[in-house]
Amino acid sequence: MSLTPLTETQQEIQRLARDFARAEIAPHAAAWDRDASFPVAVAHRMGELGFLGMLLPEIHDGLGLDTLSYLLALEEIAAADASAAVLMSVHNSLPTQMLLDFGSEVQKERWLAPMARGEIIGAFALSEPEAGSDASSLRCQAVRDGDDWLLTGTKSWVTSGTFAGVIMVMARTDTSDARRGSKGISCFIVTPDLPGFHVGKKEDKMGLRASPTVQLNLDALRVPAANLLGEEGQGFAYAMQSLDNGRLGIAAQAIGIARAALDASLAYAAERKQFGQAIREFQAIQFKLADMGARIESVRALLHATAAAKDRGESTTMHASMCKLLASETAMYVTTEAVQIFGGYGYVKDYPVEKFFRDAKITEIYEGTSEVQRMVIARELYLS
Ligand code: CAA
Repeated sequence: MSLTPLTETQQEIQRLARDFARAEIAPHAAAWDRDASFPVAVAHRMGELGFLGMLLPEIHDGLGLDTLSYLLALEEIAAADASAAVLMSVHNSLPTQMLLDFGSEVQKERWLAPMARGEIIGAFALSEPEAGSDASSLRCQAVRDGDDWLLTGTKSWVTSGTFAGVIMVMARTDTSDARRGSKGISCFIVTPDLPGFHVGKKEDKMGLRASPTVQLNLDALRVPAANLLGEEGQGFAYAMQSLDNGRLGIAAQAIGIARAALDASLAYAAERKQFGQAIREFQAIQFKLADMGARIESVRALLHATAAAKDRGESTTMHASMCKLLASETAMYVTTEAVQIFGGYGYVKDYPVEKFFRDAKITEIYEGTSEVQRMVIARELYLS
């Protein structure tokens, strides 16, 4: 169900993603969740099929697609497993896009093709234990040492951190004046083989359990000066601009989770009988299903319109935040109602909706909480 008219190519991408997700992801999602592990081979397979270089030009082995195609594919993957979707979203929207937008020709040449093929998985390290919503208060320091930079500090909540082969790390290169805030931050291309790189605590999470989220401990991590991304001091603006893309990805992920919860609820309401009839015959259940469907359709329409605006070259900061805010709140609403429709069976792991409910919650938190999205939206409204 989608109001957006899709081109042949967009329909083909959607079909390809749906077939792959149903055959190779959905059957394993519950086990990956239970074991809190994600097979790297699946990430490599996503790369083989093109899902990890969707927006990259063909010269970098990407598919060179538009944003809507990418978001359609992401929704399909998320409907099968939100952990697989966050890997795909972070990889495409953050490190890959940052290299494409701000990297030198040498950096693009070195990293983008293997990232598009899924041989290298990308990650993004902005947050710290004491710098979450207030990202520009980060304290990780980068000090110049000859031809290198030495990075010291702790990075938190790094998605795909156990197997990422390239990580965009934001660190403070100018500590001369604390008030410089966002101005003194630079972005470094970090690889796990560099001396001083340590993967720290792996988080034991409520949802998205298969996706490895880790701390990174940087102990005078020696990064060649050639790995500075773009201009010194611009790292925060690069991260923010990239999060505009990332938030569209998380919105698609949230819609995928919500859609899967609605589909499961529709099937269950048709088969479950109480008081002598299928529960979907009761108006109380019909109203829930109607509200779930209406909310999903409306936010999906906003997301698709925003994708089109992005591809026209328009600034989408405000609309990306609106999409992320509304899609994540829709995912939480829909999965809560899904658990209610399933009743006791919604609360146990025999059915998938308790996983959808746990997975949905993080979409209101990462890549900017709902409160941060409201801040961004309000600021943009004042400006317009
Ligand atoms: N595009 C380009 N530049 C931008 C920008 C954007 N969308 N947003 C801000 N900037 C620039 C500003 O123009 C400004 O530059 P100038 O000073 O030259 O004008 C600079 O960045 C600082 O901007 P602000 O003054 O707005 O910064 P702030 O400190 O007030 O913070 C904020 C604003 C919106 C609250 C921001 O800190 C924020 O988004 N916080 C949430 C952080 C976040 O989303 N973290 C998620 C981490 S990733 C993750 O979740 C893990 C994962 O892997 C999934």
